[in-house]
Amino acid sequence: MRKLITEHPLISHKLTALRDERTDSPTFRRLADELVMLLAYEATRSIRVEAVTVQTPVAPAQGVRLAAPTPVVIPILRAGLGMLDGMTRLLPTAEVGFLGMVRDHDTLQPTTYADRIPGDLKGRQVFLLDPMLATGGTLIAAIDLMLERGANQITAICLLSAPEGIAAVEAALAGRDVDVTLVTAAVDEKLNEKGYIVPGLGDAGDRLFGVV
Ligand code: URA
Repeated sequence: MRKLITEHPLISHKLTALRDERTDSPTFRRLADELVMLLAYEATRSIRVEAVTVQTPVAPAQGVRLAAPTPVVIPILRAGLGMLDGMTRLLPTAEVGFLGMVRDHDTLQPTTYADRIPGDLKGRQVFLLDPMLATGGTLIAAIDLMLERGANQITAICLLSAPEGIAAVEAALAGRDVDVTLVTAAVDEKLNEKGYIVPGLGDAGDRLFGVV
């Protein structure tokens, strides 16, 4: 797995405000949205394009456009929804699928409760959106599902990651010939006994949408 830990003062600034427990939900949503756009800029560096020629008022110009088939953006519900607008603003022609996964509070194991993803992802570039890479269980299950459906390039965009989660995803992918990249704004210190990232930002879903 390739890892890209984005280093940019603006990203650090927004991430710090996002972590702050005094940041209210509307501000948290706006900051998450802005952060995703900055991360998406890095995450789309290897997006596939094809050559085109356009006519400027002066002369023909060689350029590129996004190649078909379009990329697929998949937020992992619920918290990944808070990253969708920022991503689709940058990639308005992308297809969007939805994957509902929840982790059991005791076992921390993920189960799938919603699968609205194309059955055939053969040859597709997929962007998985999940704000928190904690134990890695959810991301591993999501990556496996994408690979089963034929995706051949997977990029996970996570606002924050724990070293334990990165190690778990790396172990799950070890020895497999798969094209997977993680783009994240920061790798924090550790997970606590409840599976929260430390120092982290708390429960991303609750901070985005309120406690349900
Ligand atoms: N999910 C969250 O929302 N926060 C964490 O710290 C870990 C997992």
